[in-house]
Amino acid sequence: MLACVDDYHRAARARLAKIAWDYLEGAAEDGESMRVARSSYGRWQFRPRVLSDVSACSLTASLWEREAAAPMIVGPTGLNGLFWPNANEVLAVAAAEAGLPFVVSTAATSLLEDVRAAAPDADLWLQLYVQRDRAIAEDMMRRASDAAFSTLVLTVDTPVHGNRDHDVRNGFRLPLRPSPKLLLDCVRHPRWSMQMLMHGVPQLRNIAKSVGEAENLDRQAALLSRQMDLALQWSDLAWIRQHWRGRVVVKGILNVDDALLARAAGVDGIVLSNHGGRQLASAPAPLDVLPEIHRAVGDELHIFVDGGVRRGSDVVKAVSLGATAVLLGRAPLYGLAARGRDGVAQVLALMKAEMKTTMTLLGRTRIDSLNRECLQVASETLAEVN
Ligand code: GLV
Repeated sequence: MLACVDDYHRAARARLAKIAWDYLEGAAEDGESMRVARSSYGRWQFRPRVLSDVSACSLTASLWEREAAAPMIVGPTGLNGLFWPNANEVLAVAAAEAGLPFVVSTAATSLLEDVRAAAPDADLWLQLYVQRDRAIAEDMMRRASDAAFSTLVLTVDTPVHGNRDHDVRNGFRLPLRPSPKLLLDCVRHPRWSMQMLMHGVPQLRNIAKSVGEAENLDRQAALLSRQMDLALQWSDLAWIRQHWRGRVVVKGILNVDDALLARAAGVDGIVLSNHGGRQLASAPAPLDVLPEIHRAVGDELHIFVDGGVRRGSDVVKAVSLGATAVLLGRAPLYGLAARGRDGVAQVLALMKAEMKTTMTLLGRTRIDSLNRECLQVASETLAEVN
């Protein structure tokens, strides 16, 4: 019986080939950005209240005019077909069954249209990378709109790829090329290799479709990793608005001034994110910048947070500090890689159950009753004792 997300982490590691595991788990340079994102949750403690009638606890969260079953969103992850066949269809179905939105990545390995067909009722969002050839992003926005995606998440922390030593060491590049090292990796992970053999090596199918199916894999990969539009700037949000009528969220903000610029640009939300620690090395933990950014922008925007969320109690902490919801990146992927759709469903259910227990023990039974009063930092406790 797997009891927590860390148990799925171990099970995923055992099943995945090293090249896939390193891609999932890897972070920039020495991994510090990833570690601080996780450890930031440990710096907060709860301030529980008792005897306050906790007989009914609701996790329901408002996301604009919709409701989510909990303040959690299954976040965008690229190349997730490396972890399970039809990964995006599986994630979308599991998210919809859990009552949560799912963000499909530009670098997803399933077509937006196929994800929609697999999960007709899901609240689907599109994560957008903007390449120099703007026609690709324009086509992605058109396709997402035709497939009734509700929200666009523009990722802005990826003008270039972070320094990921593990991918360099593994010779990770698209398309995956056969080598003695990869062959040995496959032999050591037969279940993973069989799945890849039966379903084919994952491809960046959305980019391929938007640039024309005739483009080869090398060009798809180059388009994604080396041809990002480095000149992208705040004024380009007007161009996004010309091509996208739904909600717009900017992902990858870690600075108050940028949060204020996002608000001035009229976006509907921001994601405080260090990209799972995969981009800028020595970036701050998103949770650590949340209180300051929440104070600066107030409740006019939805503020989402990602990075290092592994427990329902982490979600309660983020919401208490002003987040509308968290984005889950690796946690559902551990479930996916370990057990496919059942694994994703179990991880989401586990996190909801942990949230409910935490809130009940904290003495708060509604998401809108969570606030800074629910938390203290360890040093506050020490100061009072001394
Ligand atoms: C893609 O966004 C990645 O971080 O690998």
